[in-house]
Amino acid sequence: MHAKLLDGKQLAAEMRADIAGQVAALKKQTGITPGLGVILIGDDPASSSYVTAKEKACAEAGMFSQDVRLPAGTTQEEVLSLVRGMNGDPRIHGILVQLPLPKHICEAAVINAIAPEKDVDGFTPLNVGRMMIGESCFLPCTPHGVIQMLLKAGVQTSGRHAVVVGRSNIVGKPVAHLLMRKAEGGNATVTVCHTGTRDLAAFTRQADILVVAAGHPGTVTGDMIKPGAVVIDVGVNRVPDSSKRNGFRLVGDVDFDSAKEAASLLTPVPGGVGPMTITMLLYNTLDAARRTCEGG
Ligand code: GUN
Repeated sequence: MHAKLLDGKQLAAEMRADIAGQVAALKKQTGITPGLGVILIGDDPASSSYVTAKEKACAEAGMFSQDVRLPAGTTQEEVLSLVRGMNGDPRIHGILVQLPLPKHICEAAVINAIAPEKDVDGFTPLNVGRMMIGESCFLPCTPHGVIQMLLKAGVQTSGRHAVVVGRSNIVGKPVAHLLMRKAEGGNATVTVCHTGTRDLAAFTRQADILVVAAGHPGTVTGDMIKPGAVVIDVGVNRVPDSSKRNGFRLVGDVDFDSAKEAASLLTPVPGGVGPMTITMLLYNTLDAARRTCEGG
């Protein structure tokens, strides 16, 4: 087996062009420019580069973005006050607080402060609850991007066994939910593995669709993959590489070289899920802007 690569960059470019067209039409019809408020606390280089990519994508889609970057010592109250300011700012339809936040700031308190109608990350308890019971909501961007990739690649999920490695609120839990829900791109039988799982390989080898969001390079190797499985690698890890100008390279959670010999379809890192996450953020921000003209 030699896996075909699932090109997230190409799919993201197509979807972003479509979103840009819809942004232009919304502006023309209503005068509303969809706007995203982005808050970044601290100087984590990976977070900083994600935020830069999100702002660039907004500009390319014709959206407004307001970028607030503050030092790691910023207090929780200052962050809450920023969020509240964006909640009340009519130019901003979606708010993104880049996670993780510095340790002295309570993430739950900050997420809870985001107005649910501007929660384009889909992280507030109201949004998560709505998703769980199948009500209209903002779907979290990375999990939604994963489902879009599977759909666009024509991967059948219904009736198949999907194994998710990782149980984070951002990816593992919501992607497991989307894969199991009774909807297009769902209806799979889902197993969730995590750091408490004994004999991870025994589970991953049963997967028709394997989604890996563990946050560690090499979590899954080719011998842990059922021949012909579809493998979605959500990991983005920086590993030192002196041959690179910036001193590192990006790798996923899946060992790419061995996985491509076992899988039928595999997402590369970079250029797989990453560009889709940002695309779904643009999609949600456009949706949030549209909802304001429909009266919420
Ligand atoms: N950190 C890693 N992924 C994400 C994401 O999708 N949204 C936010 N806000 N922070 C993140």
